[in-house]
Amino acid sequence: MKVSLKAVSARHPAARARIAPALHGLDLELQPGEQVAVIGPSGAGKTTLLHLLACAIQPSAGTLELDGRDPWQLSRRELQRVRGTLFLAPQVPPLPPRQRVVTAVLAGRLPRISLAHSLRSLFYPTGIAQADAALARFDLGDKLFARVDRLSGGERQRVALARALVAQPRLLLVDEPLSALDPTRAVQAMASLTQAARESGASLVTTLHDVPMALASFPRIVGLRDGALVFDLPSAAVTPQRLEALYAQHLDELKGVQSLLDVAPSATPAPVAMTCR
Ligand SMILES: Nc1ncnc2c1ncn2[C@@H]1O[C@H](COP(=O)(O)OP(=O)(O)OP(=O)(O)O)[C@@H](O)[C@H]1O
Ligand SMILES: [Mg+2]
Repeated sequence: MKVSLKAVSARHPAARARIAPALHGLDLELQPGEQVAVIGPSGAGKTTLLHLLACAIQPSAGTLELDGRDPWQLSRRELQRVRGTLFLAPQVPPLPPRQRVVTAVLAGRLPRISLAHSLRSLFYPTGIAQADAALARFDLGDKLFARVDRLSGGERQRVALARALVAQPRLLLVDEPLSALDPTRAVQAMASLTQAARESGASLVTTLHDVPMALASFPRIVGLRDGALVFDLPSAAVTPQRLEALYAQHLDELKGVQSLLDVAPSATPAPVAMTCR
């Protein structure tokens, strides 16, 4: 899906009027099938950007276009149809605790199937092979009939990713998919997610706190800070200096890139205190 944001601002409905919008003056173009990671310190507006792209919140200024059309100018019915082609995987997956994994994964199809079909599938799941294949990508093939509340946090997060794949969206929006995963699982999950998106031709926008993972897994990186675009670059052009500027005063959030920062010419060497007796 082609995405275009022109001078877009967005504020949360619950935000106080005097507070600056969560996003302001944002310009961004995504080509169909592109994969982009969004990074930036906490509160930068990363999740808000995903909500905006998912048509969950409306721009307060500027225009959003999906495949050349402003979704907010469409009829309610058409807007719902467009929303059915987008999938937002939130940071904390909303999985009903007593549900079986297979049902939770197949729920990803709900926006695309009829009400009668969806009600029937709650009792008689169809598409089990599809759920199984999606779970296998995240090494969860043995959990098909497990109960969601008997899974670990990391397993739940991977179930949510399998659900996102089953949804077969044209634009896949994933918020912090790795927060509950150990480093090995995180690498596998990221590879499966990007691979699956490539195979289906879906565009993929992922927010990530793990900056080294973002640089290693995505060809393009968008840096946000205080609701504004700081950079939009190929990952190879994201230098330690740019990261340092993006995370200034929040360098503790830049986990795993300390070694990069240490060798950056602009980095001031830490003072070494020595005591001789
Ligand atoms: N539901 C909400 N109502 C009002 N303000 C909100 C809401 N959600 C977020 N905000 C505000 O919008 C701004 C951007 O928040 P957002 O959640 O997009 O940041 P983020 O970059 O995703 O942060 P994090 O890395 O902590 O997830 C913040 O100032 C936040 O306080
Ligand atoms: Mg967030």
